[in-house]
Amino acid sequence: MQKIVLNGIQKSYAKEPAVRHLDLIVEPGSFLTILGPSGCGKTTTLRSIAGLEEPDAGDIQLGDRTVFSRSQGIIVPPEQRNLGLIFQSYALWPHMTVERNITLALKEQKLSSGEVESRLQSALEMVQLTPYRNRYPSELSGGQQQRVAVARLIALRSQFLLMDEPLSNLDAKLRTEMRTELKRLHRELEATTVYVTHDQIEALTLSDIIVVMNGGLVMQQGTPYDIYHHPGNLFVAEFIGDPPINKFTGSFIREDGVGILQCGDHRLTLPCHVIPTRETLVATIRPENIMISEQEKDGWLKTTLDSVQPTGASTILQVKSEKSVMTLLQPGFMRMAVGDSVWVQMDMTKVNYFDPETEQNLISEG
Ligand SMILES: Nc1ncnc2c1ncn2[C@@H]1O[C@H](COP(=O)(O)OP(=O)(O)OP(=O)(O)O)[C@@H](O)[C@H]1O
Ligand SMILES: [Mg+2]
Repeated sequence: MQKIVLNGIQKSYAKEPAVRHLDLIVEPGSFLTILGPSGCGKTTTLRSIAGLEEPDAGDIQLGDRTVFSRSQGIIVPPEQRNLGLIFQSYALWPHMTVERNITLALKEQKLSSGEVESRLQSALEMVQLTPYRNRYPSELSGGQQQRVAVARLIALRSQFLLMDEPLSNLDAKLRTEMRTELKRLHRELEATTVYVTHDQIEALTLSDIIVVMNGGLVMQQGTPYDIYHHPGNLFVAEFIGDPPINKFTGSFIREDGVGILQCGDHRLTLPCHVIPTRETLVATIRPENIMISEQEKDGWLKTTLDSVQPTGASTILQVKSEKSVMTLLQPGFMRMAVGDSVWVQMDMTKVNYFDPETEQNLISEG
């Protein structure tokens, strides 16, 4: 198992920066996902690792080999980087059968025919396409074509896997199945993997480390847990989570030595490790971290139900108080009616505080 290291990668197209500055370490055998909105530089980063794009600055190492260095003038061509790739469009050769699509690259590596056949068979088995080996891509569904692309990747047995939105062409059910499959495959192949997606569920479910990008810059790198529970800045807090995080702006006051953030009708007691940077701060809390009661409770905020959306396993609720609106997520299929009075209370241990100017989280991670 080997690591992938990117140092100071920059890439512009016609003076428009696509990747402004990127440092990345993908630990040996780990699964790192680059997550971010459309146009943030994900594909550009992956193509740079693959050698399909030449960065303007920086260097890239695959294992102990430098495959790109602007300063040292090293540019190893893509076919010599020994990478397994799946791109946004799965690009099978339409005039070749499943078998030939999978074995083409193996034959180029001059492997024996016995080795090619054995890798082909085990790859087809893994993606459950054994009966389809003689079909052409046009005779397969979109999902099956995607699985052929995955089989091609498996058969290569590369130590490095790069995947760019490999599940984007699948319907929801197949996407979930393939997600599970990819996770299992990664465990079996132990390849160092960089995965690109704008789908936060894929990122949260698959990754050891998530790198959130925006506008060509890294906004945060961390475990899925940290990215979700300790967003480093407001961009990450608001980009991750569905339904989206609740955000309140409030004024900071000190009462009897205790820091209070007054956000509309919410009074939040600031934990002692949060050092307020300004008179106004931003607080966030995830919808599932607000408790709800149909009975009045001491100290809880009285609100009115504004919308009730059961999704099956959980219910999305919107409540309104005099001065604020909040989204809640409750387990189960709730049968409450719009207009009902309900009492809500935030789990104060789950609140994050941000500086409104720098947008940085004021709670240091830990
Ligand atoms: N070949 C190119 N020529 C000019 N501009 C490009 C080229 N490739 C990408 N860009 C621009 O660089 C920026 C980053 O593009 P990139 O493809 O890396 O985004 P992405 O994060 O993969 O987005 P998506 O989620 O839509 O695939 C975008 O503004 C894009 O328009
Ligand atoms: Mg892309």
